[in-house]
Amino acid sequence: MTQLHDAASLPGSEWWRTAVIYQIYPRSFADANGDGIGDLPGITSRLGSLAELGVDAIWLSPFMVSPQKDAGYDVADYCDVDPLFGTLEDFDRMLAVAHELGIRVIVDLVPNHSSDQHVWFQEALKAGPGSPERARYIFRDGRGENGELPPNNWESVFGGGMWERITEADGTPGQWYLHIFDVSQPDFDWTNPEVREAFRGVLRFWLDRGVDGFRVDVAHGLIKKDGLPDYTPAEDADSMGGDEEDVPYWGQPGVHDVYRDWNQVLAEYPGNRALCAEAWLPTPEKTALWVRPDEMHQAFNFPYAMTDWNAPALRKVITDSLRAFPAVGAPATWVLSNHDVIRHASRLALTADSPQGEGIGPTSAAQPIPELGLRRARAATSVMLGLPGSAYLFQGEELGLPEVVNLPDDARQDPTWFRTHHEKYGRDGCRVPIPWEASAPAYGFNDSGAAWLPQPAEWAQFARDVEEGDPDSTLSLYRSLLRLRREHALGAGDLTWLEGFGDNAIAFRNGDVTVIANVGATPLQLPAGRILVASGPVTEGMLPTDTTVWLAAD
Ligand code: NOJ
Ligand code: CA
Repeated sequence: MTQLHDAASLPGSEWWRTAVIYQIYPRSFADANGDGIGDLPGITSRLGSLAELGVDAIWLSPFMVSPQKDAGYDVADYCDVDPLFGTLEDFDRMLAVAHELGIRVIVDLVPNHSSDQHVWFQEALKAGPGSPERARYIFRDGRGENGELPPNNWESVFGGGMWERITEADGTPGQWYLHIFDVSQPDFDWTNPEVREAFRGVLRFWLDRGVDGFRVDVAHGLIKKDGLPDYTPAEDADSMGGDEEDVPYWGQPGVHDVYRDWNQVLAEYPGNRALCAEAWLPTPEKTALWVRPDEMHQAFNFPYAMTDWNAPALRKVITDSLRAFPAVGAPATWVLSNHDVIRHASRLALTADSPQGEGIGPTSAAQPIPELGLRRARAATSVMLGLPGSAYLFQGEELGLPEVVNLPDDARQDPTWFRTHHEKYGRDGCRVPIPWEASAPAYGFNDSGAAWLPQPAEWAQFARDVEEGDPDSTLSLYRSLLRLRREHALGAGDLTWLEGFGDNAIAFRNGDVTVIANVGATPLQLPAGRILVASGPVTEGMLPTDTTVWLAAD
């Protein structure tokens, strides 16, 4: 047990209410053994740089045993480390070093589905229809005269159908199993008490090792509507949730019981361990259902992440969030980038719309406008880190990294790319290994120069060592924002909107800090006040377009 867990905290002051949490995508963060894939010893070796940056916690995307069909979101053993990333001892060491540095550690839990290589799924294939082994997953007979048609018409998030037919042990065409994602990711049946019990064990396994919480993958997908009725999404529906009412595999009411149960498991442990829901829902109000007092502690604010660089829309989603989450006793959370979305340094200035999850590549209609994107990203992050609540950062955004658009087709690995027959590029462009040193092999990602996705030649300019020495760099901006956020206790603050800056501004007070962003096309007159930090140059009291400033109230 670490000192972090022993720290007393008053009710309402739990660390996760105000934390800035940095997402590490292990395969792309730092590679200690030079095989081209990041690993746990690599993470340990670079933790000092995160302490320097000033984050409160890290969240690690999955590093458990996995055939890596979906970059680790296809777990074959929930209680061990994949040799690709190291060993359990490497994990313990990483955790201990993080805790010594005052950084909490959240791990990714993937309960909706396992890998098809999980021992349970292998047993299910061998056992017959109706067996207890099959009942851990969602197996059904097919429709049609010989069961040759899938049990319903659902479409996988990654493209293609949501059902796969198996061959029974005797060689005959058999039942079908459900997979919301890749065919290698069969969905568990969460109405089965055995599944629930197994996951309580998984939670305890990692809690006993000392983790501070879990990011819960697809937290809105575990329960499917009774009878598995046919469902056809609207043309423009978002594949991970969308605006539609009653999608039979998203946000079904029964899912909340699972988290009420987990809440109690976590409560058995000291130190305010936290559950964070990855639940793609259309509004903050709906997302807030996952963080009612006896459920999870946080939920990603995807409605915020998906809001364009548009002042009225941003004011609305911020207002709605600050109403909806506190109304159920939870902190608002904020996020702009992660491993599933186009990096916000590119996303905020695209030449055309780009549906979430589809990604961008060389032939996409939507192409980034790099300078504009970076300027907006710096301004957007400067708004986000001025807001009360908890915020998530994705590795590399502190360097201003853009999406990599020109990955060679044969380097792409996202199942979306394959399941859509190369129609949708998918998410590889935000997952490229990050640059540490401009002139080292693989920009310091490792010593060998290997990288599982190729790094662009122009990335030397974003390398951490280059940005470290530059007071105007994005890294310097993030450091300043994080330091000031802490000094002014903005995470625990309250927001008051300020009037008089016009429709195209975002202007608010949080404690003794005034945050003003110019989202419009013409410069804005700034009020009097000492500039604490600015996302870009400010001259003669005018705030240029796509720029955010923090002013001291004194
Ligand atoms: C959400 C994860 O963030 C994503 O990367 C993954 O592909 C799906 N869930 C399936 O686990
Ligand atoms: Ca490695």
